[in-house]
Amino acid sequence: MTKGERDTMRSWVLHGTERLQGAIRVPGDKSISHRSLLLGAMAHGTTEVRGFLRSEDCLATLHALRALGTEIVEPPEGCVRILGQGPEALREPETILDAGNSGTSLRLLAGLLAGRPFFSILTGDASLRRRPMRRVVDPLAAMGATLLGRAAGQFPPLAIRGGRLSGIAWKTPVASAQVKSAILLAGLQALGETSVTEPTLSRDHTERMLTAFGVVPQRRGTTVSVPGKARLAAASLSIPGDLSSAAFFIVAAAARPGAEVILRDVGVNPTRTGALEVLAAMGATITQERERSEGGEPVADIHVRGTHLRGTTIGPDLIPRLLDEIPALAVAAALAEGETVISGAAELRVKEVDRLSALAGELAKLGVQVVEERDSLRIVGGRRLRRAVVSSRGDHRMAMSLAVAGLFSEGETRIQDVACVETSFPGFARLLLEVAPGCDIREVGD
Ligand code: S3P
Repeated sequence: MTKGERDTMRSWVLHGTERLQGAIRVPGDKSISHRSLLLGAMAHGTTEVRGFLRSEDCLATLHALRALGTEIVEPPEGCVRILGQGPEALREPETILDAGNSGTSLRLLAGLLAGRPFFSILTGDASLRRRPMRRVVDPLAAMGATLLGRAAGQFPPLAIRGGRLSGIAWKTPVASAQVKSAILLAGLQALGETSVTEPTLSRDHTERMLTAFGVVPQRRGTTVSVPGKARLAAASLSIPGDLSSAAFFIVAAAARPGAEVILRDVGVNPTRTGALEVLAAMGATITQERERSEGGEPVADIHVRGTHLRGTTIGPDLIPRLLDEIPALAVAAALAEGETVISGAAELRVKEVDRLSALAGELAKLGVQVVEERDSLRIVGGRRLRRAVVSSRGDHRMAMSLAVAGLFSEGETRIQDVACVETSFPGFARLLLEVAPGCDIREVGD
């Protein structure tokens, strides 16, 4: 049984608080942690990674790479070291590679494995086995790999027989960093150049990190290209805090008048910072301090001062820059005065759960008026949230967003199915208590 199919359901029982104050540091960025392992395994030499996120998702990538023969030294504290010997040193795994709940693990590994001349199978938990894979299967097959999956390649498990790739110029209909990165990881092993064009720029961590590994991708608008048969040299990396994890505290502080919270050393890559702009438009004061660059990624302390928020509109163009923050922003909308419309967000339907439907259903239990349409949510905020039993539906970001809502609720909020938080944010409840010491959050069995 995978982690996502746990038999014991864990819940949080939460009582809110008025006070939100302090300075905290959230764990390392999930997207960057995955990429540090994958590029480290493809490189020649020992890559050192500081601030690696030890969450279930990133550990799924780590275990898969070990099964492919990469030596990774992972002391309980300090640097993770990846002893890369180039992609040619990877060997056929003896068993099925399990990505657990992690779409990033499965899709990026598919890109890596498409270039290797051996057979491998990638699978995941029940949630991941329902997520669309044709978006990576089609370009990787067009490059020359053989990929088979359930429902004509739509769903995992995916069986891959890779090798002998040719570079392509691929135009993807979705702005997806996982799709882009899968194609680039294959392209680095192909004959000739590979380029990917997306409708709007998705997070560009792969491109930035490749530069640190000595391969400089070329960018023109939303097209990025990498050379084929590239040789990556080991790097020394420092991973910033995850803005998507910081977002839960940023929303909590932004929506509480008088609150003042600082999130230290957070990655503020502009392809990820849409939520900060939205919360500022809703009335919060958010500043970035001690701005600097680490390993090609911008990093800053984020200082949030809260207020009575007001509703806003979040349109399609902004979605890729705040994709993972929509659950937290929906809670901000529920707490804000007036109406918030989030549109062009169909991609949320194919995340760990259908987040548009999950948000509509769970926020309604808290007394929030929400209208769900094909690719949008209309949220009327400003009413007191009521005591309720809600469920994460197995989605880590739903669980943490509902905990933020619980801080503002009258009486007790019970959030069911919270073990999934380990996929991205071990220690979330402990950090919540640091900035909201008056709140009571207890984990209980069902
Ligand atoms: C990620 C890309 C995004 C994001 C996910 C992490 C990545 O997914 O939602 O949490 O690390 O590349 P999509 O590529 O499906 O948009």
